[in-house]
Amino acid sequence: MEENKKVLYSGMQATGTLTLGNYLGALKNWVKMHEEFTCFYGVMDLHSLTVRQEPAQFRKNARALYALYVAAGLDPEKNCIYYQSHVAAHAQLGWVLDCFTYMGELNRMTQFKDKASKHADNINAGLYTYPVLMAADILLYQANVVPVGVDQKQHLEITRDIAERFNNLYGEVFTIPEAYISENGAKIMSLADPTKKMSKSDENKNATILLLDDRDTIIRKFKRAVTDSGSEVRFSEDKPGISNLMSIYGCVTGKTMEEIEREFDGKGYGEFKLAVGEAVADELTPLQKRYDELMKDKSYIDQCIKTNDERAAYVAGKTLRKVHKKIGLTELIR
Ligand code: TYM
Repeated sequence: MEENKKVLYSGMQATGTLTLGNYLGALKNWVKMHEEFTCFYGVMDLHSLTVRQEPAQFRKNARALYALYVAAGLDPEKNCIYYQSHVAAHAQLGWVLDCFTYMGELNRMTQFKDKASKHADNINAGLYTYPVLMAADILLYQANVVPVGVDQKQHLEITRDIAERFNNLYGEVFTIPEAYISENGAKIMSLADPTKKMSKSDENKNATILLLDDRDTIIRKFKRAVTDSGSEVRFSEDKPGISNLMSIYGCVTGKTMEEIEREFDGKGYGEFKLAVGEAVADELTPLQKRYDELMKDKSYIDQCIKTNDERAAYVAGKTLRKVHKKIGLTELIR
């Protein structure tokens, strides 16, 4: 990996399998990024702790996420794919940055409010300071760009605010990162309610396509997708259901909205929904095959994790030492 490239950082929580939203809004766009950037991708297992996890299942989910990254085409030799919890600097910088973040700022985080209302029995302090740990993730690697879906935009804004505040006090310690939100796929909506984001925690199983759903399930879910009144395949605000399906179809086929409108001109919703289902299934089948192979090859993934954990720890450690020095913590005596 070249040192003079700009740095890119992103990651996903290690909870359950990924959705088509995670894939189209994030993962799919990451695959070629290493050509332009030095890329770091975390398995964000510390963030997942903000919701109670069953330990054995949690460990499997984290491993599955790592394998899905690779199966989707992220090459672990060209990208640093590592476990957040294996690099102690994340939690260490997280604490320091907690002391540079105001409660007023955290109170404004819409995702905290949303998650707190969904997990009313477990509104823990980690859920509250979640964005600060995310800021630490990004700033440790001096990232220039952070590709995410729209739902993470506010977290990127607070990351920039914290970094600027810190730099104003101590000099140019952190690179100020920019969110990179792709035009297409940045917000894939639920198939059952196109006004809601597609999410793995949706209780309605038909609302969400999981990356490991089999072909028949994918096609069946698309056939059941909620559409709008009328019968025309047209991208417009008053057609949120059809527009969402068109975005999905556009992401997987590379076609523009105009091309899709032309392709389905005079054809009904039924035919269109079937085409979307088939296109998504075609896209995911090779990924699923590769995933199955990878999950069987324990030593390959283990080796990738080991090498990349070390690399991430080296880069993160450099930033952390700089931060400690700037704020006046006593250096380690070696
Ligand atoms: P997470 O795990 O919720 O989601 C991972 C990525 O998938 C995107 N995404 C979507 N995009 C389009 N449509 C959807 N329906 C959809 N659902 C999810 C998210 O925007 C995200 O890019 N806090 C982060 C994880 C994280 C992180 C970081 C990300 C921790 N530290 C540092 C970037 C940098 C999260 O919960 O993502």
